[in-house]
Amino acid sequence: MIQLSTSVCLLGGLFLIAPVLMAPTPANMCRPLKTLNDSLSHRRRYMKHNFPINYTIRVHHKEIFKLSNINKMRLNVEALDDLVLQRLWFQVNQGVLKKILRVMPERHPSRPYTAELEKRFRDAEGVFVESHPAEVFQQELPDTIQDIWDGLTEEPDRVPDFSWRFASPKSLLDNLCHTMFCLFSECFASTEPQQDYCGISRWRKGRKKDLQPES
Ligand SMILES: *[C@@H]1O[C@H](CO)[C@@H](O)[C@H](O)[C@H]1NC(C)=O
Ligand SMILES: *[C@@H]1O[C@H](CO)[C@@H](O)[C@H](O)[C@H]1NC(C)=O
Repeated sequence: MIQLSTSVCLLGGLFLIAPVLMAPTPANMCRPLKTLNDSLSHRRRYMKHNFPINYTIRVHHKEIFKLSNINKMRLNVEALDDLVLQRLWFQVNQGVLKKILRVMPERHPSRPYTAELEKRFRDAEGVFVESHPAEVFQQELPDTIQDIWDGLTEEPDRVPDFSWRFASPKSLLDNLCHTMFCLFSECFASTEPQQDYCGISRWRKGRKKDLQPES
C-alpha cells in the first residue's frame, strides 16, 4: 500500500507543496537516533570489556535481529513497508536492552552506560510514535511479521525452549546498530557515495577494523 502525505520543501525561496511517497523516516527522528548512535559507538568498551570472556545472555531467537533477517523479510514478504520493519526494530530492541540490563547488578560498571542507552532508545521511540499518525500503529501487520511480534511478546514462561538462543551483549548491540543504519538510513547519509547500510558485506569487511581495541 502506498501512503501519501504532503511535504513542504523550500526551493529557492519558494514553498512547494507536493504530494510525495511518505518518507519512512521523518526528519525529526534523526536527532534522537544520532544521539543513540553516539552512545552505541562506545559499545565495545561497555559491552565487552566489562563482561567475562564469551559471556552470553538468553534471548528469544527473533531478538537476534540482523541485516540478513531484514533482507530476507524484504524479499519474502509482499509489499512490506519500511515503517513496519521500523516498528519491529523498536519492538525487538526494546526487549534486547531490557534483557541486557536485567543481567547487570546495580553496581556493574556498565550499568550507567546501558541505562543511558536504554533511555536514549526510549526517547527515539517516543519521537517515532509521535511523528506518525496513530492509525499507522493499528494497521494490521503481514502474517510473517505478526508471527514474529507474537513470539516476542509471549510471556517468557510460555516461550518454548527451542525458541531461546544465547548471544553476547556486544553482538546484540552490533545488530541493533547495523540494522538501525539500514532502516533509518536517511538519518545516516554520509559523504561516501552509494553507502549501502543494508548490505551485509559492508560489516564483514569492516570487521577487522572493528576488532581493534577502542580508546
Ligand atoms: C555514529 O557515531 C559515531 C561517534 O559519534 C560516528 O563516528 C559515526 O560516524 C556515526 N555513524 C554514522 C553512520 O553516522
Ligand atoms: C571463547 O570462545 C572461543 C570461541 O568459541 C573459544 O575458542 C575460547 O576458548 C573461549 N574462551 C573462554 C575463556 O571460554
